[in-house]
Amino acid sequence: MTATTTVDTLGPLHADMTAWRRDIHAHPELGFQETRTADRVASLLQACGIAVTRGVGKTGVVGTLKSGASHRSIGLRADMDALPIAEGNAFGHRSTHAGVMHACGHDGHTAMLLGAAVQLARTKRFDGTVHFIFQPAEEGLGGAKAMIDDGLFTRFACQRIFGMHNRPRLAVGRFNVKSGPMMAGGAFFDIRVTGRGAHGARPETGVDAALAAAQIAVSLQSIVARNVAPLDSAVLSVTRIRAGDAYNVIPQTAELGGTVRAFSREVMDAVGRHMKRVAEGTAAAFGASAEVDFRVLFAPTVNDPAQADVAARICTELVGADQVDRNPPLVMASEDFSFMLEQVPGCYINIGNGEGSEGGCEVHNPAYDFNDQALPLGAAFFVRLIESELAA
Ligand code: NI
Repeated sequence: MTATTTVDTLGPLHADMTAWRRDIHAHPELGFQETRTADRVASLLQACGIAVTRGVGKTGVVGTLKSGASHRSIGLRADMDALPIAEGNAFGHRSTHAGVMHACGHDGHTAMLLGAAVQLARTKRFDGTVHFIFQPAEEGLGGAKAMIDDGLFTRFACQRIFGMHNRPRLAVGRFNVKSGPMMAGGAFFDIRVTGRGAHGARPETGVDAALAAAQIAVSLQSIVARNVAPLDSAVLSVTRIRAGDAYNVIPQTAELGGTVRAFSREVMDAVGRHMKRVAEGTAAAFGASAEVDFRVLFAPTVNDPAQADVAARICTELVGADQVDRNPPLVMASEDFSFMLEQVPGCYINIGNGEGSEGGCEVHNPAYDFNDQALPLGAAFFVRLIESELAA
Protein backbone atom coordinates (compact mmCIF):
# COMPACT_ATOMS: atom_id res chain seq x y z
CA MET A 1 0.00 0.00 0.00
CA THR A 2 1.39 3.40 -0.94
CA ALA A 3 1.79 6.14 1.63
CA THR A 4 -0.13 8.74 -0.34
CA THR A 5 -3.63 8.59 -1.66
CA THR A 6 -4.10 9.16 -5.38
CA VAL A 7 -7.28 9.16 -7.42
CA ASP A 8 -6.40 5.57 -8.43
CA THR A 9 -6.34 4.54 -4.76
CA LEU A 10 -10.08 5.21 -4.67
CA GLY A 11 -10.67 3.06 -7.78
CA PRO A 12 -12.01 0.06 -5.88
CA LEU A 13 -14.54 2.34 -4.14
CA HIS A 14 -15.75 3.89 -7.40
CA ALA A 15 -18.40 1.24 -8.01
CA ASP A 16 -19.67 1.56 -4.41
CA MET A 17 -19.83 5.35 -4.57
CA THR A 18 -21.64 5.16 -7.91
CA ALA A 19 -24.20 2.76 -6.46
CA TRP A 20 -24.76 4.95 -3.36
CA ARG A 21 -25.02 8.08 -5.52
CA ARG A 22 -27.58 6.56 -7.89
CA ASP A 23 -29.63 5.14 -5.02
CA ILE A 24 -29.76 8.58 -3.39
CA HIS A 25 -30.55 10.17 -6.76
CA ALA A 26 -33.50 7.80 -7.22
CA HIS A 27 -34.83 8.70 -3.75
CA PRO A 28 -34.47 12.48 -3.47
CA GLU A 29 -35.73 14.25 -0.35
CA LEU A 30 -36.40 17.94 0.22
CA GLY A 31 -34.69 19.94 2.97
CA PHE A 32 -35.24 18.73 6.55
CA GLN A 33 -37.03 15.64 5.14
CA GLU A 34 -33.83 13.70 4.36
CA THR A 35 -34.71 10.77 6.63
CA ARG A 36 -34.03 7.97 4.16
CA THR A 37 -30.83 9.63 2.99
CA ALA A 38 -29.71 10.15 6.60
CA ASP A 39 -30.48 6.47 7.33
CA ARG A 40 -28.29 5.39 4.41
CA VAL A 41 -25.48 7.73 5.44
CA ALA A 42 -25.61 6.65 9.09
CA SER A 43 -25.64 2.93 8.34
CA LEU A 44 -22.75 3.17 5.87
CA LEU A 45 -20.69 5.15 8.39
CA GLN A 46 -21.51 2.75 11.23
CA ALA A 47 -20.65 -0.26 9.07
CA CYS A 48 -17.04 0.92 8.95
CA GLY A 49 -16.81 1.71 12.65
CA ILE A 50 -17.38 5.46 12.53
CA ALA A 51 -19.26 6.95 15.53
CA VAL A 52 -22.52 8.48 14.31
CA THR A 53 -24.66 11.24 15.78
CA ARG A 54 -28.10 11.70 14.23
CA GLY A 55 -30.53 14.58 14.37
CA VAL A 56 -27.98 17.42 14.39
CA GLY A 57 -30.02 20.26 12.87
CA LYS A 58 -33.13 18.05 12.49
CA THR A 59 -32.02 15.55 9.80
CA GLY A 60 -28.27 16.21 9.83
CA VAL A 61 -25.74 13.44 10.49
CA VAL A 62 -22.22 13.74 11.90
CA GLY A 63 -19.72 10.89 11.71
CA THR A 64 -16.63 11.11 13.94
CA LEU A 65 -13.44 9.18 13.24
CA LYS A 66 -10.41 9.41 15.55
CA SER A 67 -6.95 8.06 15.00
CA GLY A 68 -3.92 8.51 17.25
CA ALA A 69 -3.69 10.96 20.15
CA SER A 70 -3.43 14.34 18.46
CA HIS A 71 -6.02 17.02 19.31
CA ARG A 72 -6.07 18.35 15.75
CA SER A 73 -9.46 18.23 14.06
CA ILE A 74 -10.92 18.88 10.63
CA GLY A 75 -14.56 18.99 9.49
CA LEU A 76 -15.56 17.77 6.03
CA ARG A 77 -19.01 18.74 4.90
CA ALA A 78 -21.49 17.51 2.25
CA ASP A 79 -25.11 18.52 1.64
CA MET A 80 -27.92 15.95 1.28
CA ASP A 81 -31.09 17.72 0.10
CA ALA A 82 -32.86 17.72 -3.27
CA LEU A 83 -34.98 20.32 -5.08
CA PRO A 84 -38.70 20.65 -5.92
CA ILE A 85 -38.11 19.97 -9.63
CA ALA A 86 -39.75 17.26 -11.76
CA GLU A 87 -36.88 15.25 -13.24
CA GLY A 88 -36.66 15.26 -17.02
CA ASN A 89 -34.21 12.37 -17.32
CA ALA A 90 -35.15 8.86 -18.43
CA PHE A 91 -32.16 6.89 -17.13
CA GLY A 92 -32.50 4.01 -14.69
CA HIS A 93 -31.64 5.99 -11.55
CA ARG A 94 -34.09 8.85 -12.26
CA SER A 95 -36.15 10.17 -9.36
CA THR A 96 -38.90 7.93 -8.05
CA HIS A 97 -40.35 10.80 -5.98
CA ALA A 98 -42.76 12.91 -8.05
CA GLY A 99 -41.74 16.54 -8.31
CA VAL A 100 -38.49 16.10 -6.35
CA MET A 101 -35.07 15.78 -7.93
CA HIS A 102 -31.35 15.85 -7.13
CA ALA A 103 -30.76 18.68 -9.60
CA CYS A 104 -27.78 20.20 -7.76
CA GLY A 105 -25.59 17.13 -7.33
CA HIS A 106 -25.93 16.87 -3.56
CA ASP A 107 -26.34 13.12 -4.16
CA GLY A 108 -22.80 13.16 -5.56
CA HIS A 109 -21.45 15.34 -2.75
CA THR A 110 -22.87 12.89 -0.20
CA ALA A 111 -21.45 9.86 -2.05
CA MET A 112 -17.97 11.43 -2.33
CA LEU A 113 -17.81 12.19 1.39
CA LEU A 114 -19.07 8.68 2.20
CA GLY A 115 -16.32 7.26 -0.01
CA ALA A 116 -13.72 9.34 1.81
CA ALA A 117 -15.10 8.23 5.18
CA VAL A 118 -14.95 4.54 4.24
CA GLN A 119 -11.40 4.90 2.92
CA LEU A 120 -10.16 6.83 5.97
CA ALA A 121 -11.82 4.36 8.35
CA ARG A 122 -10.08 1.47 6.57
CA THR A 123 -6.62 3.00 6.33
CA LYS A 124 -6.50 5.44 9.28
CA ARG A 125 -3.29 7.03 7.99
CA PHE A 126 -3.76 10.18 10.06
CA ASP A 127 -3.45 11.45 13.62
CA GLY A 128 -6.37 13.46 14.92
CA THR A 129 -10.16 13.71 14.55
CA VAL A 130 -12.24 13.95 11.39
CA HIS A 131 -15.88 15.02 11.58
CA PHE A 132 -17.90 14.01 8.52
CA ILE A 133 -20.73 16.55 8.41
CA PHE A 134 -23.78 15.58 6.33
CA GLN A 135 -25.90 18.69 6.24
CA PRO A 136 -29.62 18.92 5.50
CA ALA A 137 -31.54 21.66 3.73
CA GLU A 138 -28.87 23.59 1.86
CA GLU A 139 -31.30 24.88 -0.79
CA GLY A 140 -32.52 27.97 1.00
CA LEU A 141 -34.02 26.34 4.09
CA GLY A 142 -31.17 27.08 6.49
CA GLY A 143 -29.66 23.64 7.11
CA ALA A 144 -26.16 24.89 7.91
CA LYS A 145 -27.51 27.37 10.42
CA ALA A 146 -29.75 24.69 11.93
CA MET A 147 -26.71 22.48 12.55
CA ILE A 148 -24.70 25.38 14.00
CA ASP A 149 -27.61 26.38 16.25
CA ASP A 150 -27.77 22.74 17.35
CA GLY A 151 -24.20 23.00 18.63
CA LEU A 152 -22.35 21.57 15.63
CA PHE A 153 -19.03 23.24 16.41
CA THR A 154 -19.27 22.98 20.20
CA ARG A 155 -20.22 19.28 20.17
CA PHE A 156 -17.87 18.45 17.26
CA ALA A 157 -14.97 20.86 17.53
CA CYS A 158 -13.38 21.57 14.14
CA GLN A 159 -10.23 23.66 13.81
CA ARG A 160 -10.75 23.86 10.06
CA ILE A 161 -13.51 22.95 7.66
CA PHE A 162 -13.70 22.02 3.98
CA GLY A 163 -16.41 21.28 1.46
CA MET A 164 -16.95 21.11 -2.28
CA HIS A 165 -19.58 21.63 -4.96
CA ASN A 166 -19.65 20.20 -8.45
CA ARG A 167 -19.32 22.60 -11.36
CA PRO A 168 -20.98 21.83 -14.71
CA ARG A 169 -18.98 22.94 -17.78
CA LEU A 170 -15.74 22.48 -15.83
CA ALA A 171 -13.96 19.36 -17.11
CA VAL A 172 -13.79 16.30 -14.86
CA GLY A 173 -10.34 16.34 -13.28
CA ARG A 174 -10.29 20.11 -12.88
CA PHE A 175 -10.75 22.05 -9.64
CA ASN A 176 -11.44 25.72 -8.89
CA VAL A 177 -9.97 27.06 -5.62
CA LYS A 178 -10.48 30.73 -4.83
CA SER A 179 -9.08 32.71 -1.90
CA GLY A 180 -11.39 35.23 -0.20
CA PRO A 181 -14.94 35.94 -1.48
CA MET A 182 -16.09 33.17 -3.81
CA MET A 183 -19.88 33.14 -3.97
CA ALA A 184 -22.60 35.70 -3.41
CA GLY A 185 -24.77 36.15 -0.39
CA GLY A 186 -28.45 35.58 -1.08
CA ALA A 187 -31.83 36.89 0.04
CA PHE A 188 -35.32 35.61 -0.69
CA PHE A 189 -38.29 37.96 -0.90
CA ASP A 190 -42.08 37.83 -0.97
CA ILE A 191 -44.28 40.71 -2.05
CA ARG A 192 -47.99 40.57 -1.34
CA VAL A 193 -50.11 42.92 -3.45
CA THR A 194 -53.64 43.74 -2.32
CA GLY A 195 -56.22 45.32 -4.62
CA ARG A 196 -59.98 44.92 -4.78
CA GLY A 197 -61.52 41.89 -6.47
CA ALA A 198 -64.08 42.36 -9.22
CA HIS A 199 -65.90 40.66 -12.08
CA GLY A 200 -63.58 40.06 -15.00
CA ALA A 201 -65.88 42.05 -17.26
CA ARG A 202 -66.14 45.05 -14.92
CA PRO A 203 -62.55 46.14 -14.11
CA GLU A 204 -63.69 49.70 -13.31
CA THR A 205 -65.30 48.43 -10.09
CA GLY A 206 -62.08 46.89 -8.72
CA VAL A 207 -58.34 47.31 -8.32
CA ASP A 208 -56.50 44.66 -10.35
CA ALA A 209 -53.84 43.11 -8.12
CA ALA A 210 -52.52 41.02 -11.04
CA LEU A 211 -51.79 44.09 -13.16
CA ALA A 212 -50.08 45.86 -10.26
CA ALA A 213 -47.99 42.72 -9.60
CA ALA A 214 -46.99 42.49 -13.26
CA GLN A 215 -45.84 46.12 -13.23
CA ILE A 216 -43.94 45.57 -9.98
CA ALA A 217 -42.11 42.62 -11.59
CA VAL A 218 -41.04 44.89 -14.45
CA SER A 219 -40.18 47.88 -12.25
CA LEU A 220 -38.01 45.81 -9.88
CA GLN A 221 -35.61 45.32 -12.77
CA SER A 222 -34.72 49.00 -12.56
CA ILE A 223 -33.03 48.47 -9.17
CA VAL A 224 -29.94 46.62 -10.37
CA ALA A 225 -29.81 48.75 -13.53
CA ARG A 226 -30.28 52.16 -11.83
CA ASN A 227 -29.66 51.87 -8.07
CA VAL A 228 -26.64 49.53 -7.82
CA ALA A 229 -23.28 51.07 -8.73
CA PRO A 230 -22.06 49.71 -12.08
CA LEU A 231 -18.85 48.34 -10.55
CA ASP A 232 -20.76 46.50 -7.83
CA SER A 233 -22.70 43.42 -8.79
CA ALA A 234 -26.15 42.18 -7.88
CA VAL A 235 -28.90 39.98 -9.28
CA LEU A 236 -32.61 40.40 -8.69
CA SER A 237 -34.80 37.60 -10.10
CA VAL A 238 -38.58 37.39 -9.75
CA THR A 239 -39.13 33.64 -9.85
CA ARG A 240 -42.74 33.28 -8.67
CA ILE A 241 -45.90 35.19 -9.60
CA ARG A 242 -49.24 33.95 -8.35
CA ALA A 243 -52.68 35.52 -8.74
CA GLY A 244 -56.23 34.43 -9.36
CA ASP A 245 -58.12 31.16 -9.71
CA ALA A 246 -60.72 31.90 -12.40
CA TYR A 247 -61.02 33.29 -15.93
CA ASN A 248 -63.74 35.77 -15.03
CA VAL A 249 -62.50 37.12 -11.70
CA ILE A 250 -60.08 40.02 -11.28
CA PRO A 251 -57.98 38.84 -8.35
CA GLN A 252 -58.00 40.76 -5.10
CA THR A 253 -54.46 39.68 -4.19
CA ALA A 254 -51.30 38.69 -6.00
CA GLU A 255 -47.94 37.44 -4.78
CA LEU A 256 -44.46 37.76 -6.17
CA GLY A 257 -41.37 36.04 -4.88
CA GLY A 258 -37.76 35.66 -5.86
CA THR A 259 -34.15 36.03 -4.91
CA VAL A 260 -31.43 38.70 -4.66
CA ARG A 261 -27.68 37.98 -4.77
CA ALA A 262 -24.73 40.27 -4.01
CA PHE A 263 -21.15 39.97 -2.74
CA SER A 264 -21.45 42.48 0.08
CA ARG A 265 -23.92 43.02 2.84
CA GLU A 266 -24.15 46.74 1.92
CA VAL A 267 -25.38 46.08 -1.64
CA MET A 268 -27.78 43.41 -0.40
CA ASP A 269 -29.36 45.75 2.15
CA ALA A 270 -29.62 48.56 -0.42
CA VAL A 271 -31.46 46.30 -2.86
CA GLY A 272 -33.86 45.40 -0.06
CA ARG A 273 -34.58 49.06 0.68
CA HIS A 274 -35.15 49.93 -2.98
CA MET A 275 -37.39 46.89 -3.41
CA LYS A 276 -39.68 48.20 -0.67
CA ARG A 277 -39.82 51.64 -2.31
CA VAL A 278 -40.50 50.31 -5.82
CA ALA A 279 -43.09 47.72 -4.76
CA GLU A 280 -45.04 50.04 -2.46
CA GLY A 281 -44.86 52.99 -4.87
CA THR A 282 -45.82 50.96 -7.94
CA ALA A 283 -48.74 49.34 -6.14
CA ALA A 284 -49.91 52.77 -4.97
CA ALA A 285 -49.87 54.04 -8.55
CA PHE A 286 -52.53 51.41 -9.34
CA GLY A 287 -54.54 52.10 -6.18
CA ALA A 288 -53.30 48.86 -4.64
CA SER A 289 -50.95 48.25 -1.71
CA ALA A 290 -47.88 46.06 -1.34
CA GLU A 291 -46.13 44.43 1.62
CA VAL A 292 -42.50 43.36 1.21
CA ASP A 293 -40.80 40.60 3.18
CA PHE A 294 -37.04 40.60 2.42
CA ARG A 295 -34.91 37.97 4.20
CA VAL A 296 -31.17 37.42 3.89
CA LEU A 297 -30.69 33.63 3.84
CA PHE A 298 -27.07 33.20 2.80
CA ALA A 299 -23.93 35.03 3.82
CA PRO A 300 -21.34 35.61 1.09
CA THR A 301 -19.04 32.56 0.88
CA VAL A 302 -15.54 33.67 1.88
CA ASN A 303 -12.57 31.28 1.91
CA ASP A 304 -9.74 31.65 4.40
CA PRO A 305 -6.60 32.41 2.33
CA ALA A 306 -4.37 29.94 4.21
CA GLN A 307 -6.93 27.12 3.90
CA ALA A 308 -7.45 27.96 0.21
CA ASP A 309 -3.69 27.46 -0.25
CA VAL A 310 -3.96 24.09 1.49
CA ALA A 311 -6.90 23.02 -0.70
CA ALA A 312 -5.12 24.16 -3.86
CA ARG A 313 -1.98 22.23 -2.92
CA ILE A 314 -4.01 19.04 -2.37
CA CYS A 315 -5.78 19.49 -5.73
CA THR A 316 -2.46 20.14 -7.44
CA GLU A 317 -0.98 16.95 -5.97
CA LEU A 318 -3.98 15.01 -7.30
CA VAL A 319 -4.38 16.42 -10.80
CA GLY A 320 -1.47 18.78 -11.52
CA ALA A 321 -1.19 22.55 -11.31
CA ASP A 322 -2.53 23.10 -14.85
CA GLN A 323 -5.83 21.51 -13.79
CA VAL A 324 -6.35 23.83 -10.80
CA ASP A 325 -7.71 27.34 -11.39
CA ARG A 326 -6.67 29.61 -8.50
CA ASN A 327 -8.55 32.62 -9.86
CA PRO A 328 -11.93 31.48 -11.19
CA PRO A 329 -14.65 34.09 -11.70
CA LEU A 330 -16.90 34.96 -8.76
CA VAL A 331 -20.06 32.86 -8.67
CA MET A 332 -23.43 34.60 -8.29
CA ALA A 333 -25.10 31.54 -6.79
CA SER A 334 -25.17 31.23 -2.99
CA GLU A 335 -24.21 28.48 -0.62
CA ASP A 336 -25.05 28.11 3.04
CA PHE A 337 -21.65 26.55 3.84
CA SER A 338 -20.91 30.29 4.12
CA PHE A 339 -22.35 30.23 7.66
CA MET A 340 -19.96 27.43 8.66
CA LEU A 341 -17.07 29.41 7.14
CA GLU A 342 -18.09 32.35 9.34
CA GLN A 343 -17.53 30.11 12.40
CA VAL A 344 -14.46 28.11 11.39
CA PRO A 345 -11.70 28.98 8.88
CA GLY A 346 -11.83 26.78 5.84
CA CYS A 347 -12.29 26.54 2.12
CA TYR A 348 -15.02 25.62 -0.34
CA ILE A 349 -13.84 24.35 -3.70
CA ASN A 350 -15.46 23.47 -7.03
CA ILE A 351 -14.92 20.10 -8.68
CA GLY A 352 -15.48 19.71 -12.43
CA ASN A 353 -18.68 17.89 -13.40
CA GLY A 354 -17.76 17.70 -17.08
CA GLU A 355 -18.43 19.47 -20.34
CA GLY A 356 -20.94 19.07 -23.15
CA SER A 357 -23.31 16.13 -22.80
CA GLU A 358 -21.02 14.60 -20.15
CA GLY A 359 -21.96 16.65 -17.10
CA GLY A 360 -22.28 20.05 -18.78
CA CYS A 361 -25.98 20.55 -18.00
CA GLU A 362 -26.36 23.35 -15.45
CA VAL A 363 -27.55 22.65 -11.93
CA HIS A 364 -31.24 23.27 -11.06
CA ASN A 365 -32.19 22.08 -14.57
CA PRO A 366 -34.57 19.06 -15.04
CA ALA A 367 -31.95 17.37 -17.26
CA TYR A 368 -29.04 17.71 -14.77
CA ASP A 369 -27.18 14.71 -13.38
CA PHE A 370 -24.09 14.44 -11.22
CA ASN A 371 -21.20 12.91 -13.18
CA ASP A 372 -20.08 9.67 -11.52
CA GLN A 373 -16.62 10.07 -13.07
CA ALA A 374 -15.98 12.86 -10.55
CA LEU A 375 -16.65 10.64 -7.50
CA PRO A 376 -13.11 9.27 -6.98
CA LEU A 377 -11.60 12.72 -7.51
CA GLY A 378 -13.75 14.32 -4.82
CA ALA A 379 -13.23 11.45 -2.39
CA ALA A 380 -9.46 11.48 -3.04
CA PHE A 381 -9.35 15.22 -2.29
CA PHE A 382 -10.90 14.67 1.14
CA VAL A 383 -8.73 11.62 1.97
CA ARG A 384 -5.49 13.24 0.89
CA LEU A 385 -6.37 16.46 2.70
CA ILE A 386 -6.78 14.55 5.97
CA GLU A 387 -3.65 12.43 5.43
CA SER A 388 -1.66 15.57 4.69
CA GLU A 389 -3.07 18.05 7.22
CA LEU A 390 -3.45 15.51 10.03
CA ALA A 391 -0.27 13.67 9.10
CA ALA A 392 0.81 11.10 11.67
NI1 NI B 1 -25.97 22.81 -4.56
